[in-house]
Amino acid sequence: MTLVSPRYQNPYAGFPLDNSSQGRMMRPSLSGLSVGLRPPVAPVASPASLYTFLPNRQNAPYRFAVMGDAGTGDLNQALVARQMSFWHQVMPYNSVMVLGDNVYKNGEPALFPDRITRPYQDLQRQGVRFFPVLGNHDVKKGFGDWQLAYWGVPPFYNFKLGPPGFEVEFWAIDTNLLIPQSSLEGQANPVLARQKAACQMAWLAQSLAQSTASMKVVYGHHPMASRGANTKPGRAFEQQILASQLGPLFSRYGVDLYMSGHEHHYEKPALVSGTYHLVSGAGGKLDSAKRGGPEGNGLLKQLHFMLFEITPQGLTYRTISSDGKFIDCGKIPRRGMLGGQLYTYA
Ligand SMILES: [Fe+2]
Repeated sequence: MTLVSPRYQNPYAGFPLDNSSQGRMMRPSLSGLSVGLRPPVAPVASPASLYTFLPNRQNAPYRFAVMGDAGTGDLNQALVARQMSFWHQVMPYNSVMVLGDNVYKNGEPALFPDRITRPYQDLQRQGVRFFPVLGNHDVKKGFGDWQLAYWGVPPFYNFKLGPPGFEVEFWAIDTNLLIPQSSLEGQANPVLARQKAACQMAWLAQSLAQSTASMKVVYGHHPMASRGANTKPGRAFEQQILASQLGPLFSRYGVDLYMSGHEHHYEKPALVSGTYHLVSGAGGKLDSAKRGGPEGNGLLKQLHFMLFEITPQGLTYRTISSDGKFIDCGKIPRRGMLGGQLYTYA
């Protein structure tokens, strides 16, 4: 295949990096992650690779959006992106956690501008920052490192949002590394894939242990606990592999929430072994009525994104459909706080 080199743009170019009250972003030196035409060598992450964000008053620092499985380039992606832009005017947010499968079907670099930049350029122009993880479609042809370079992030990283004393720390992880069958590298070079996975797990355990944040949120592409996933071949196996590796860490270090996509629907946050799990995988792709389990009991087959707010009591969320309706809302309490009862559907 002849690859036509796309014109690379750094989505964060122009974002203020000064000490003004409008916001400051301190980033580690991401050696090897220069935005260029060569796939970079993924840096070894360490707890020192923490991104710290200070308040950006214009952009409501304590709200963030979540969406996954968006990269179709079709009308569905555009409709969700349009709602994200609209709701940014109503309830401004300054970050978007992107849950993977950002470029269908094979993560082709030539499609990055069309799937990653164009639908969200309105938000990016307003300083909204995007924190992606890679999905199986992003890595299946070996273009994962290209996409990370395009976004300007390492393969796994952590950062904080929220006011002092109520900070929420996020860990963005590459679950493809933990499910080697899902990546080209995992199939072609299982030894290297295992080394990368071990590196990520060591980093995750160490930084979770060192975290002093009042809430801990981990997110990756594949779910650990999805009811809908169990109706598709191979999906239960993926969840078992992930749960066996991540579950013990989540319990030991008190992870409050795990967010994933991969299943093209919405699953309301549900408490599993002390950690809330949600699935938000319909930011552009949607399962048919037959695939991914029946609707109901917290599972909805609607294109959507989620809008979160960090409050002293925990996280509140609204799930907004591609036609602008609230299809769910609720709260995820800080540990030790009462009031964690989830709302029923609006
Ligand atoms: Fe996926």
